[in-house]
Amino acid sequence: MLSILLTAGLLTIISAQSIPCGTPTVQPVTNRIVGGKEAAAGSWPYLGLLVDDLGFIAGSATVLGDHVLVTSAQHFEGPGYDVFDLDLKHWRVYLGEHNIHTADPNEKYYHFSRVIVHPGFNISSLANDVALIITRETIQLNNNVRPACLPDPTHQYQVGQVCYLPGWGSTSSTGNEEVLNQVDLPILADSVCQTHFPDFIPDGEVCAGYENGNKDFCGDDIGSPLLCKDLNGMWFIQGIASSGGNCTFANEPGVFEDVPRYSVRHSHSTTCHKQNRWRERGSCGNMAYLGLLVDDLGFIAGSATVLGDHVLVTSAQHFEGPGYDVFDLDLKHWRVYLGEHNIHTADPNEKYYHFSRVIVHPGFNISSLANDVALIITRETIQLNNNVRPACLPILPTSTKLVKSAICLDGDQLLVDLPILADSVCQTHFPDFIPDGEVCAGYENGNKDFCGDDIGSPLLCKDLNGMWFIQGIASSGGNCTFANEPGVFEDVPRYTNWIKTTMEQAGYPYQY
Ligand SMILES: *[C@@H]1O[C@H](CO)[C@@H](O)[C@H](O)[C@H]1NC(C)=O
Ligand SMILES: *[C@@H]1O[C@H](CO)[C@@H](O)[C@H](O)[C@H]1NC(C)=O
Ligand SMILES: *[C@@H]1O[C@H](CO)[C@@H](O)[C@H](O)[C@H]1NC(C)=O
Ligand SMILES: *[C@@H]1O[C@H](CO)[C@@H](O)[C@H](O)[C@H]1NC(C)=O
Repeated sequence: MLSILLTAGLLTIISAQSIPCGTPTVQPVTNRIVGGKEAAAGSWPYLGLLVDDLGFIAGSATVLGDHVLVTSAQHFEGPGYDVFDLDLKHWRVYLGEHNIHTADPNEKYYHFSRVIVHPGFNISSLANDVALIITRETIQLNNNVRPACLPDPTHQYQVGQVCYLPGWGSTSSTGNEEVLNQVDLPILADSVCQTHFPDFIPDGEVCAGYENGNKDFCGDDIGSPLLCKDLNGMWFIQGIASSGGNCTFANEPGVFEDVPRYSVRHSHSTTCHKQNRWRERGSCGNMAYLGLLVDDLGFIAGSATVLGDHVLVTSAQHFEGPGYDVFDLDLKHWRVYLGEHNIHTADPNEKYYHFSRVIVHPGFNISSLANDVALIITRETIQLNNNVRPACLPILPTSTKLVKSAICLDGDQLLVDLPILADSVCQTHFPDFIPDGEVCAGYENGNKDFCGDDIGSPLLCKDLNGMWFIQGIASSGGNCTFANEPGVFEDVPRYTNWIKTTMEQAGYPYQY
C-alpha cells in the first residue's frame, strides 16, 4: 500500500493493488558506459509517455499508484497559458511503452480525470514544478507497469550517487529516439549548479549530470524521473526533470525538482492571527464578500466568497459532477462579479474578474459531496474596497457549530436568517449527512431556504467581536419551492487549514 501526502494534504492516494514500488522484473542495464543507451525493454516500468490532444509527445510522467502519476507542472501552465487553455480531456498517457512507433504488446493508454498543478508553481522561476495526473481509468499494475517508490521526506540526496534518467527524448543521443533510452547522471552539489544557474533553488531543486560532459536531457524529457536505487535495491524517484536540459551543447547539468521535498505535508502554523483589517460591522446585507459566478454561456452558476485579493472560496460541485470535471468546462470564459447588487443592471461598483486557476479539494466526492470546497484564483488582482471585502475565516480551526447565524442569498438579493441546527436534526432529513464535514442550518417546516443557484454561497455568522466569518458553504438540501428541509453546508472550520495552506502555496496567503 502506498500512502502519499502531497503538500498539505493536497492529495492522499492509497493504492489498493499490492504491486511493490521500485522493483522491476527486468533489471535495467547499469554498467557505466559513456553516452546514453537504449534501455532494456520493461526495465523502467514506472515511466509513462504523455501525448497531447494533437498526438504530439509532451514529455514523460512517473507512475505512483493505480490512478496517479507525477510529472512537471510546466506541461500544463506556462507564460500566457494555463490548464484551461489545454484540451486535457484528449491527452493520454501511454504505459508499458517501449517503442513509440510500434504497438508494443504491453502498452495501454489512459485518459486524465484531473491534473493537480502544485499551487505554488511559479512559471517564471519554475519553483514547485510538480503536478499530479489523476487518471480516469484504473491503471493496471503488472510486470510492465509499476509504481516508483517515493523517497522518505527526510531523504537527503547523495552527491556523487549515479542515478538514471529514462526518457523518449533525444536524451541520450543513441540515434534511436523511437525506443526508451536512458542516461546515467551523477548528482552534483548545489554549489556546482549555482555557478551554472544563478536562479537555481537549493531548497526545492537537485542538480545532476556533467559540467563538460556529452550527456544531458533534452526539452522533450521534461517531467522524466531521475531514478536512484536505495539501500534495499528499490528504485525511488529523486528528481523530476525541470530545466537546464541542453542536449546540443551538453556542457551544463540538468535541474530536477527535489522530490523528497514534495513527498509530505508541509507543516504550517495553525495559529490564526486575528488581524482583521476589513473589520466589518454592518449587517451581512451589504454582501461585500459575495461574488456572483457566471459561466461561459453567461448563466449564473452560483456564488463564491472573497478571501483575499486573488482568492475566492466556493463549492467544488460547480466544477466537477457526475460525468464531467474541470476539463469539460470552459473555465477560461467564466467570470466572477464582485461589488454586485442588482444582477440586471450595471451597478456602479460592480467589476468582474477572470479565473487563472481552480483548486478543487482533492478529497471531493461527487457522490457524497464530501469536501465540497474549491478555491478560485483570479487572473486579475481583486480591488478591495468598501464594496468588495474578504470574509473572515473562522478563528477556531476545529468546528464549533454555533446556534444562530444568518445567510446572505444572492439572486434576488434576499437576506435570510438561518439558525444552525443540531447534526441529529439534519441526519433525520438526510441519512447521508456527514457530521464530520458538514453543518446544517435552516428550518424543518419553515418558509425560508436556499435554492440550487445559491450553491457555493456562504453561511455567514457573527463572532463575539462583531466580525462576520464564513461558517458554511451551501452544498445541498436547498429546496426553495418546498422549504420543509434545512440546507446542508460544508463546515468551513474543518477546511480552514486546507484553505490557508493552499492559498499560501498559490502565492496569496490569507491575511485577515
Ligand atoms: C515567481 O518568480 C519570479 C522570478 O523569480 C519572482 O519575481 C516572483 O515574485 C515569483 N512569484 C511568486 C508569486 O512567488
Ligand atoms: C545550449 O548551449 C549553447 C552553448 O552554451 C547555447 O548557445 C544555447 O543557447 C543553449 N540552448 C538552450 C536551449 O539553452
Ligand atoms: C464517495 O461517496 C460514495 C457515496 O457515499 C461512497 O460509496 C464512495 O466510497 C466514496 N468514494 C470515495 C473515494 O471515498
Ligand atoms: C422539494 O420538496 C418537495 C416536497 O417535499 C419534493 O417533491 C421535491 O422533489 C423537492 N425538490 C428537490 C429539488 O429536492
